[in-house]
Amino acid sequence: GLKIVTIGGGSSYTPELIEGYILRKEELPIKEIVLVDIEDGKEKLEIVGAMAKRMVEAAGLDWTVTLTLDRKTALKDADFVTTQFRVGLLNARVKDERIPLSHGILGQETNGAGGIFKAFRTIPVILDIIEDMKVQCPDAWLVNFTNPAGMVTEAAIKQGGWEKTVGLCNVPIGHVKTASEKLGLPKEDLFFKFAGINHFHWHKVWDKSGKERTDELIDLIYGPNQNEDDNHLKNIHSALFHYEQIQDLHMLPCGYHRYYYIEDEMLEHSIEEFKNGETRAQVVKETEARLFELYKDPKLDHKPEELSQRGGTHYSDAACEIIASIQNDKHTEMVVSTKNNGTITDLPYDCAVEVSGVVTAHGFEPYNWGEFPNAGARGIIQNMKGMEETVIRAAIEGNYGAALQAFTVNPLIPGGTIAKTVLDEMLYAHKEYLPQF
Ligand code: NAD
Ligand code: G6P
Ligand code: MN
Repeated sequence: GLKIVTIGGGSSYTPELIEGYILRKEELPIKEIVLVDIEDGKEKLEIVGAMAKRMVEAAGLDWTVTLTLDRKTALKDADFVTTQFRVGLLNARVKDERIPLSHGILGQETNGAGGIFKAFRTIPVILDIIEDMKVQCPDAWLVNFTNPAGMVTEAAIKQGGWEKTVGLCNVPIGHVKTASEKLGLPKEDLFFKFAGINHFHWHKVWDKSGKERTDELIDLIYGPNQNEDDNHLKNIHSALFHYEQIQDLHMLPCGYHRYYYIEDEMLEHSIEEFKNGETRAQVVKETEARLFELYKDPKLDHKPEELSQRGGTHYSDAACEIIASIQNDKHTEMVVSTKNNGTITDLPYDCAVEVSGVVTAHGFEPYNWGEFPNAGARGIIQNMKGMEETVIRAAIEGNYGAALQAFTVNPLIPGGTIAKTVLDEMLYAHKEYLPQF
C-alpha cells in the first residue's frame, strides 16, 4: 500500500486533501497517511489530525492516519511527499504584507517584497526536507504546494537535485472552469495550453473542431462586459484589466497578472486594506480560527463549506489527481510547475515553468510551447524569471547584495533607498526564520 507524507499537516487545508484521497479511493491503495508538523503547529496538527481520522473512518476506510513532529522518521519509505507548510505561520505573512504596504509598496503572499521573503524563509527548509528524503525515501515523488510554489519547485529540482518534483497550484483549474462556462462547452471538449511561471502564466484555448477560441474568450471575459464576478480567486481584489492590452496579447492572463498590468489600482486597494487592518493574512487568520473551532467538533466528519473561503480551495483536485495519475499512469492532462527543458524557449533550460502536459507513471510530460511571439510577454516573463533566480540564490547564500538585486529587479519594488529600507526592515522582522542572512 501507499505511504503518503504531508509536511505542514496542521494546515487548515488538510481536510480538503483528505477529501480528495477519499474521492479517489478506488485509484489510491493507501496504507498510511502521515501528517507532519513542528512544535509551533502541534495544537493545529492535533485538531485537524483528529478531524482527518474521523473523515477516513466515516468513509469506511482502513487507512492509518499518523500525526507526528518527527519529520525524518515520518519520511521513511514514503511513496509521495506533499508539502503545504508556512515557515513562521500566518504571523509571518502578516509582516510580509504589512511592512511593504507601510512604505507604500505592494506586499502580497507570493508577489512583491512579501513573496520574496516567503521564498527566503522557505527555500532552506525545502532543501533540508530533500536531504532527509535522500536518506529515507530516495524514490519518492515530491508534490509541492508550498508557496511561492514556482521558486520552491525550482529550488527543489535545480539546487536540491530532486528531479521527481512537481509544483501545483489551483489557479489554472479556475481558469479552465471560467472558459468552459463562458463558451458554454464542457471542459472535456476544450483544449488548453498554459505557459509561464507560477502565478504568472497565460493560456490559449481551442475547441474540438480544432478552432482556436482564445480571442473570443478575451472578448467575452475582458471585453465591454468584463465582470468582477469572473475573478475566481477569493484572495485577489477583482480590479478590471485593460481590454485593449489583453487583446494585444492574444493570450488569456491569469488572475495574478492584475498586480502587474493594473498595478496602481491593486496597490491602492491593498493600501486601503492595510489602513483598515484587513490585509489578506489578517482576514485569513479569522477564517482559520473559525475553521479550527469547527474541526474541534467530534461530530464533524466531512470538509466544512467554510473552507471554500480560502484562496486555495479545490487545490486537492490538483494534488490528489497528480498522485492518482502517477500511480495509475492515467495520462491526466494538468498544469504543473516542472523543469523547463526547452518547453518555453524564452526561458533557461533548468528553471521551473508552469505549463500544460500529461501526467504519466514516470512523471510530467509537458506540451511544447516554444517562444512568446509577443515581445511584451517575453520581456516581462524574462524579467520575472531573472528575479526568481536571484531570489533563490539570495535565499541559499544568505547574500544581502543578491537580496537587494532581487528587490531591484522585481517590477513591484522601486529601486533606490526604498528597496533598501524595506529589505532591512523585513530582514530584521523575520530574523528568527532567516538564519542564513
Ligand atoms: P499555515 O500557516 O496553516 O501553515 C501550515 C502548517 O505548516 C502549520 O501547521 C505550520 O505549523 C506548519 N509548518 C511551519 N513550518 C514548518 C516546517 N518547517 N516544517 C513542517 N511544518 C511547518 O498555512 P496554510 O495557510 O495552510 O498554507 C500552507 C501552505 O500552502 C502555504 O505555503 C501556502 O502559501 C500554500 N498554499 C499553496 C497553494 C497553491 O496554489 N500552491 C494553495 C493553498 C495554499
Ligand atoms: C490562491 C493561490 C494560492 C494561495 C492562495 C491564498 O488560490 O493559488 O497559491 O496560497 O490563493 O489563499 P488565502 O486564502 O491563504 O489567501
Ligand atoms: Mn497558487
